[in-house]
Amino acid sequence: MSKYNDIDMNFWKDYAEIETDSLWIIDKRDNSGAHVGDYHGNFVPQIPHQLFIRYTKKGDWILDPFMGSGTSLIEAQRLQRNAIGIDLQQKVIEDALQRITLENNDSSKIICHCGDSSEIEFKNILDSAKIKKVQFVIFHPPYWDIIKFSDNPKDLSNCENLKEFQISFGKVIDNTTAFLEKNRYCACIIGDKYAKSQVVPLGFHCMNLFLERNFLLKAIIVKNFGETKGKANQQAIWRYRALKNDFYIFKHEYIFIFKKITN
Ligand SMILES: C[S@@+](CC[C@H](N)C(=O)[O-])C[C@H]1O[C@@H](n2cnc3c(N)ncnc32)[C@H](O)[C@@H]1O
Repeated sequence: MSKYNDIDMNFWKDYAEIETDSLWIIDKRDNSGAHVGDYHGNFVPQIPHQLFIRYTKKGDWILDPFMGSGTSLIEAQRLQRNAIGIDLQQKVIEDALQRITLENNDSSKIICHCGDSSEIEFKNILDSAKIKKVQFVIFHPPYWDIIKFSDNPKDLSNCENLKEFQISFGKVIDNTTAFLEKNRYCACIIGDKYAKSQVVPLGFHCMNLFLERNFLLKAIIVKNFGETKGKANQQAIWRYRALKNDFYIFKHEYIFIFKKITN
């Protein structure tokens, strides 16, 4: 049995649902149970599901510093993992907690806090949960200013420029991964954006923030996405704009997987 998941390699053929390819085509969002999917900017539950079965064990602690509607917390709970979620918006947390409790099970502990993940005192939160470290961190930050989540100046979606976004996200990485157990994993889900007629490769800028901090890059996964809420029912006009203005319509985002090899 490996040290970071519950996969029994004696039965490796039985794990057909676990992705091992770097291209994830997920046609349909899992909208079952508490996974309502109405939060603008959420990710599909299949992403945390895949990551948690591959990189965590039952009873492990998962940290999500950008919990939003709590997709990863619901998934953690379903898989009997414990989880801590942080978001800047109290109302968003309250809505998430309502959903999470719909699927309450006795074997998982779910803790949510409102605050800025770049400076919140994780030590106090972990102390109250009687743990010293977490075993996985899942980062799904705002894709800079593509969706404005709030008016709070601490919100990463309000960063004035790319440099400020990188500095702010870097602070979140430092503040959270200080509590990630050595030899365990974290993942960052992020897409790119266009600005001033060129691609801003936000994904690779974020990837570099982890590389600068000596994380091992274990995977660059490309995941498709279908029609986003922002572009709903506007395929024709976007196709026209793309053809006219020499750009491509984004249909993918990245899942970067890193291993922490330092203390
Ligand atoms: C892309 S969404 C995450 C969505 C989530 N994965 C889901 O499925 O619902 C990013 C979230 O980060 C929050 N956020 C932005 N800046 C933050 C910060 N500095 N600290 C904590 N949360 C922040 C936003 O309020 C938003 O809910």
